[in-house]
Amino acid sequence: MVPSLVITLFSFLVLFSLSNAATKPKGFIFPIKKDSTSLQYYTTIQIGANSTSLDVVVDLGGKFFWFNSAEYFSAASTYRPIRCGTKLCRIANGVGCVFCFLSPPVPGCTNNTCSDYAHNPFTGTLGYSGLGEDTLHVYATNGAKYVSPHFPFQFSDPVLREGLATGTQGLIGLGRTNIALQAQLASSFKLRQKFALCVPSSGDGNIIIGGGPYNAAFQKISKSLFSTSLIRNPVATWPNEKIGNLTVEYFINVKSIRVGNKTLSLNATLLSIDKNGNGGTNLRTVRPYTILHTSIFRALANEFVKEAAAMNIKRVASVAPFGACFNSKTIANSKTGPVVPTIDLVLQSKSVYWRFYGSNSMVKVNNDVLCLGFVDGGLDPITSISVGGHQLENYLLEFDVTSSKLRFSPSLQLSDTSCSQFKAS
Ligand SMILES: *[C@@H]1O[C@H](CO)[C@@H](O)[C@H](O)[C@H]1NC(C)=O
Ligand SMILES: *[C@@H]1O[C@H](CO)[C@@H](O)[C@H](O)[C@H]1NC(C)=O
Ligand SMILES: *[C@@H]1O[C@H](CO)[C@@H](O)[C@H](O)[C@H]1NC(C)=O
Ligand SMILES: *[C@@H]1O[C@H](CO)[C@@H](O)[C@H](O)[C@H]1NC(C)=O
Ligand SMILES: *[C@@H]1O[C@H](CO)[C@@H](O)[C@H](O)[C@H]1NC(C)=O
Repeated sequence: MVPSLVITLFSFLVLFSLSNAATKPKGFIFPIKKDSTSLQYYTTIQIGANSTSLDVVVDLGGKFFWFNSAEYFSAASTYRPIRCGTKLCRIANGVGCVFCFLSPPVPGCTNNTCSDYAHNPFTGTLGYSGLGEDTLHVYATNGAKYVSPHFPFQFSDPVLREGLATGTQGLIGLGRTNIALQAQLASSFKLRQKFALCVPSSGDGNIIIGGGPYNAAFQKISKSLFSTSLIRNPVATWPNEKIGNLTVEYFINVKSIRVGNKTLSLNATLLSIDKNGNGGTNLRTVRPYTILHTSIFRALANEFVKEAAAMNIKRVASVAPFGACFNSKTIANSKTGPVVPTIDLVLQSKSVYWRFYGSNSMVKVNNDVLCLGFVDGGLDPITSISVGGHQLENYLLEFDVTSSKLRFSPSLQLSDTSCSQFKAS
């Protein structure tokens, strides 16, 4: 029994290294699931000598991978610190150097180690500590297993995990840095720095890094996507979330907002990014609902309420954090969810827009009440519009970091599908 297990394991290892050496993968696939309590999205990562499996929150605008795990700690035989002044430290854009003298050294305490701030986007906490590297185990879109041998991350203080979905142990970033997941895999395997994100409302969605191929239905959908530029904010929107003088988050250039056929009259200054980095529109998987500057929120909610009234939809008392709620018995249903006025984020031209139907615009708070799922972000948010998870769900979103383009589908419900059907072929 034992010898045959060893042989099987050995031949697996040979196969894995052969697949790594012989064939270049086309892309890599990671599941993405929604935690229904915290409304956070998470994926599963396998790391280290023992392929420790970790559930970690997905942060589209996150800088890098950080986690704390007792299981990994006890199986970290291949963990290596990233030393100060090394090439990987420069690639990581590390900030400062940490000296820590446990003997033997352990993840989280190694001497002369390149360091950086990990950011918890739910509590706002920053955790400064050393960066390390270990083997990341990944699955290609054809199912083959590969390893990325020097994957950088921070083994963080356990306190930094506060506020993360129950059962998750850290966070993985897909932001515009050199050590974000897609950037590292693209550089290890010479792939285009591109990823497709399909955020599920339930079930499993997928993140596909590097390119497809996607399953047939999504290949078809991917042929007719809207395209817009990903723009860069010259100033960090969160402490230390910038590289040089650019933020690592993804911004798009929303020029106006339509409700039904009506273009809202908005303060244009708020829609663009000023020299201090204020204003504009970003995309955030770590916020459950889209957050708007008060003046934009009011314009949107007022027009929405007016058009809903014209459709005989009855307004009811608001339920926090929402500002406009309705009697669900007065709202019809369709394949795109509750039939309510559509909301469009209009991009570089009137014909390029991101349209939200009821499934994405409305949130069910109880059996009788549906609320407009956008929230008031106050008079002084740094970013005027942060598109949140509920609005990102069930669209195919392709981030081409290399060419700074976002390509996005119309609501997948129009094609009778959803992100839980998004797979590799
Ligand atoms: C490695 O994983 C196996 C199987 O999950 C487990 O039994 C073993 O204890 C792990 N080793 C360490 C050092 O954690
Ligand atoms: C820690 O690293 C520094 C810089 O390389 C070195 O001077 C020092 O001796 C090291 N300390 C220990 C305890 O290893
Ligand atoms: C950002 O940095 C680059 C290179 O250092 C510089 O040329 C550019 O002017 C800077 N931009 C801003 C807005 O500070
Ligand atoms: C919006 O405009 C289109 C085309 O002009 C028209 O067919 C449609 O009925 C209008 N919808 C509403 C709600 O006014
Ligand atoms: C538009 O917004 C900018 C930035 O917040 C503000 O300075 C300006 O006063 C606003 N203009 C109007 C007409 O409200």
